[in-house]
Amino acid sequence: MPGYPVLPEGLAYGGDYNPEQWPEEVWREDVRLMREAGVNLVTVGVFNWGLIEPAEGEYDFGRLDRILDLLHSAGVSVDLATPTSSPPAWFRRRYPGSRLVDRDGRVLGGGSRHGFCPSSPDYAAAAERVVEALAARYAGHPALTMWHVHNEYGWANAHCHCPTSAEAFRAWLRDRYGEVGALNAAWGTTFWGLTYGSFDEVEPPVVAPVGLLNGLQLDFMRFSGDAHLACFRREREVIRRFSDLPVTTNFMIPNCKPMDYWRWAAEVDVVANDHYLDSARADPHIELAMAADLTRSVAGGRPWMLMEHSTGAVNWQPRNLAKRPGEMRRNSLAHVARGSDSALFFQWRASRYGAEKFHSAMVPHAGTDSGIWRDVVALGADLRRLGGVRGSAVRAEVALGWDWESYWALELEWRPSVDLRFRERMEAYYEALWREHTTVDFVHPAADLSPYKLVVLPSSYLLTEASAKNLHRHVEGGGHLLVSYFSGIVDENDIIHAGPYPGALREVLGVSVEEFHPLRADETVTLRPSAATGRIWSERVRLTGARAVHRFADGPDAGHPAVTRHDLGAGTAWYVATALDPRPGPEPGDDLRGLLAAVLDHAGVARPRGLPDTLEIVRRGDHHFLINHADEPVTVDGVTGTGVLDGAEYAGSATVPAGGVVVIRT
Ligand code: GLA
Ligand code: GLA
Repeated sequence: MPGYPVLPEGLAYGGDYNPEQWPEEVWREDVRLMREAGVNLVTVGVFNWGLIEPAEGEYDFGRLDRILDLLHSAGVSVDLATPTSSPPAWFRRRYPGSRLVDRDGRVLGGGSRHGFCPSSPDYAAAAERVVEALAARYAGHPALTMWHVHNEYGWANAHCHCPTSAEAFRAWLRDRYGEVGALNAAWGTTFWGLTYGSFDEVEPPVVAPVGLLNGLQLDFMRFSGDAHLACFRREREVIRRFSDLPVTTNFMIPNCKPMDYWRWAAEVDVVANDHYLDSARADPHIELAMAADLTRSVAGGRPWMLMEHSTGAVNWQPRNLAKRPGEMRRNSLAHVARGSDSALFFQWRASRYGAEKFHSAMVPHAGTDSGIWRDVVALGADLRRLGGVRGSAVRAEVALGWDWESYWALELEWRPSVDLRFRERMEAYYEALWREHTTVDFVHPAADLSPYKLVVLPSSYLLTEASAKNLHRHVEGGGHLLVSYFSGIVDENDIIHAGPYPGALREVLGVSVEEFHPLRADETVTLRPSAATGRIWSERVRLTGARAVHRFADGPDAGHPAVTRHDLGAGTAWYVATALDPRPGPEPGDDLRGLLAAVLDHAGVARPRGLPDTLEIVRRGDHHFLINHADEPVTVDGVTGTGVLDGAEYAGSATVPAGGVVVIRT
């Protein structure tokens, strides 16, 4: 991997730096403050295309030269961005065929970013030229430490429906299927007599009178991902001609559904991610932890970079909540605990104008006499003390199966219930494991499962035969598996596996499902002997080798199995036929967490016991992170070592203050 880690030592601290929004006297103040806060890495030039190429083929690098020189003189390293996510106004005007067209056929307007078609040859040529000019000029600049290609591929322009995209889609289909008969078979086009006589007859999935071919929709998502990936590769290859420094692009895990990041991760030298708290959530730090664990997993367990997060409120949620005292610190350190070698923000200085002027920053509008600035300076000091954690790994004994294709397929229209949402079950299981103090990885169901005692499949509607065999081998070989309802239903083309549900998983689970009985909105069912409550789903499970652990006490499947267990070879496969809640039920254990605790025990998964479910515990290398999300202090036993942040010696126990963080090096 060329050049990673990006900095000679310690963790990276800083963020997006957009000095073009400010007069030069502010830049000098910026670097002074960066030194005060301990900033050592900034991302520069993300949206600079219209500034460095003000007219086609005319370059003006004067300002960028001065910025990079100034940062270098202050000892701040630069993550130099290619500006291709925001094409200039002249480009749109000159190449109208490159404009993004949405699903309704509307050409999207200018005055914004991301408005281009990823398959446009004009965009490709213009992007290649500006990246070449940039790479040629700055490859040898002493401030430069890494390259940041583009910005958040596929966020605002994941799918383009213009004629150029349609043509590129047909070419992609020819490549994939060779002849149109193979496409017809894969998509099941005898249905409604939708058979194609040639690839030229295929149209991308735009708004249709009534239900669309599922295979068409899935392949269009795959094609669109490939189109963005091709844009990334093109820029990376240009940079490679001039520079050996690491090249990355910032992912949006898990909030950019259209991008299959298992595929993207193989293309970058270091995985980088942007994460923003969803402030409408009751416990947003649990979704943060999930994002960080998924990012680490996508990175193959190697350290990754938190490329953007926020010091306080964002500007794009319905209600943009400020962070509570200590929350930014807990957030940043949770990312580091879960494998990030950096804590970077969007952005350094809050903008006075533009669409993001109400977004928080490291230097807020309030200036340096502010809580945010004091917290920024304190976080810089924390991160310096934590430098020794760099490069070390997080180990997990439990993995959650995550497949973007299953995410896409599950959420196409006309499923048995609109309440079947990929993230709903994924987050429920993640939350239950988080509250059970169990660190998890994520895996693609076809990946190597040997590191894990327990694999959990919360939402694997689409599951290939190969993945199903992989899971079967895992259980037979002594691994454990827990599957939630409506998994293993269809293959990669959204065609139902033959025979009773859940086709691909029938054998390993030792059950079959006769009929689905989705519940009404707000309807619940109860289990017995556990009095846990289920929502969303009930179904008629038949035992074909498994035994019932819990049954439905009421509802459409009263008396029939709700949770089953199948001992197979040296392992066990569990099945859960309803949506149990991750939060505490009426009696201890009567909830998803209680069920999972029993399965974790059976699988021999070690974890701390007797701690409040508001305490986040993660071990990274020899660093033990204790993050207290509650308003009361908590004492943790069984920890001995040196407090990295506070310098204290801990012998056998540690008290973590309310809202505080203790990191102990053992
Ligand atoms: C209508 C149509 C059928 C079928 C059913 C499904 O009646 O005529 O082709 O789509 O709806 O309920
Ligand atoms: C994304 C983008 C940034 C900025 C932030 C705001 O992460 O990459 O340019 O728009 O969102 O939260």
